Amino acid sequence: MAPTVFEVIYYSLTGNTKKVAEAIASELDVAAEDVKTKDKLAENSFVFLGAGLYGPLRGWGLKRLIDRNDFDGRKVALFGTSGEGKGKEVEALKEAVAAKGAEVAGSFFCRGRFLFLKRDHPTSKDLGNARTFAREVAKD
Ligand SMILES: Cc1cc2nc3c(=O)[nH]c(=O)nc-3n(C[C@H](O)[C@H](O)[C@H](O)COP(=O)(O)O)c2cc1C
Repeated sequence: MAPTVFEVIYYSLTGNTKKVAEAIASELDVAAEDVKTKDKLAENSFVFLGAGLYGPLRGWGLKRLIDRNDFDGRKVALFGTSGEGKGKEVEALKEAVAAKGAEVAGSFFCRGRFLFLKRDHPTSKDLGNARTFAREVAKD
């Protein structure tokens, strides 16, 4: 069987989700990619997708990529950050990729800094948890 190709793609307006993406990507020995530079997924890659939460705009920024690529039977893992840290952004991404036939292998979310709130988030502990998540989910 061909070795698994991992892709880690994020949308990050203020940099929090980018930090999580970089932690995940370094665990998988790949570079995290800003969705703004990405149109086409590799065929059959295992894709890690992440975004922040912006009010009602959940999973915003990744919609175009999800719309334009084939997810049928593709393995996907999801990650996100938000002020409240409840994972609503990850839930929205889950719905979007599942509607396109993806197999969701797992998800990770944590708090992110928002203005003067949660200044230290994502914390180094959060980033360590993101690495553990990547390692565990990539085994499947
Ligand atoms: C325009 C805007 C709207 C936001 N709305 C919410 C919100 O409704 N609920 C919440 O928990 N956090 C909210 N946040 C906080 C972000 O979800 C949080 O800072 C997240 O980590 C941003 O990710 P990013 O730095 O990768 O863009 C908002 C942030 C911005 C900039």
